[in-house]
Amino acid sequence: MKLERIFAVYFSPTGTTDKTVNTLAEALAGKLDLPLERRSFTKPVEREKDYHFTDADLVVVGTPTYAGRVPNKILPDFCSRLHGGGALAVPVVLFGNRNYDHSLAELCAVLEADGFHTVAAGAFVGRHAFTDRLGEGRPDWDDRRELTSFADKIADKVKDLTEIPEPIQVPGDPAGAYYTPKGRDGAPVQFLKAKPKTNLTKCTNCGACARLCPMGAIDPKNVALVPGTCIKCQGCVRKCTKHAKYFDDPAFLSHVAMLEENFTEPKKNEVFL
Ligand SMILES: Cc1cc2nc3c(=O)[nH]c(=O)nc-3n(C[C@H](O)[C@H](O)[C@H](O)COP(=O)(O)O)c2cc1C
Repeated sequence: MKLERIFAVYFSPTGTTDKTVNTLAEALAGKLDLPLERRSFTKPVEREKDYHFTDADLVVVGTPTYAGRVPNKILPDFCSRLHGGGALAVPVVLFGNRNYDHSLAELCAVLEADGFHTVAAGAFVGRHAFTDRLGEGRPDWDDRRELTSFADKIADKVKDLTEIPEPIQVPGDPAGAYYTPKGRDGAPVQFLKAKPKTNLTKCTNCGACARLCPMGAIDPKNVALVPGTCIKCQGCVRKCTKHAKYFDDPAFLSHVAMLEENFTEPKKNEVFL
């Protein structure tokens, strides 16, 4: 099994999965002395194409954890657009310092079903898209060091592979229950219908949020309108340079407050080889 290319493939509305996957893939490319190719899988147009790999590829595939699973609106694209063709894969999930629950097990199962052979996997902490107070500043320099040492171990594992390894074993159940968000009083809350609001005194209608939205949900002609499905990824909130987007849904805000009260103690990354 002779490897020729390393790929970084990532769905990353607020950038932590992008950073983590690319740091790992760069370290792998350096260690194995192979070229690296990056494929963002974030915007709708990027997920409308098919991606074919071969048994000469090692592909690091990353997604954030949403409600303890792979984001459910993106899952169909992970299932149908990525074609492993016998490539080796390293599934990576990000989580915002609460828990990754079943997301890594689900991503591993999806990639095996897509025709990849999983050789290692990792769950890494990233700043929570909902609030800076969970996973603040992560991935940080310590995370980068852990990613580099993980890359060294993966490189050692794959460089002399003579046969396809058994699928990597990780905690969680690929079909496990979605996490139910809770409010400050501990009772379940629902904010599925919440959409970003626009501060019209700050917004210049530049259209950046509409171009960046992974669901294509925002009207590019009038960005205060959100006719499409919002997955609460916070891409528009985090990337608007005028800070004009925000969520004011009471159930959403109560959930964020609950997270801030209970999940600020820094969690550890977990790797599996
Ligand atoms: C809709 C939504 C649901 C989330 N659910 C979880 C979760 O169940 N557990 C957790 O620890 N973090 C959760 N997070 C936090 C993300 O996993 C984390 O912020 C991730 O780093 C974001 O990746 P990105 O920067 O690539 O967009 C959630 C974030 C969003 C937007």
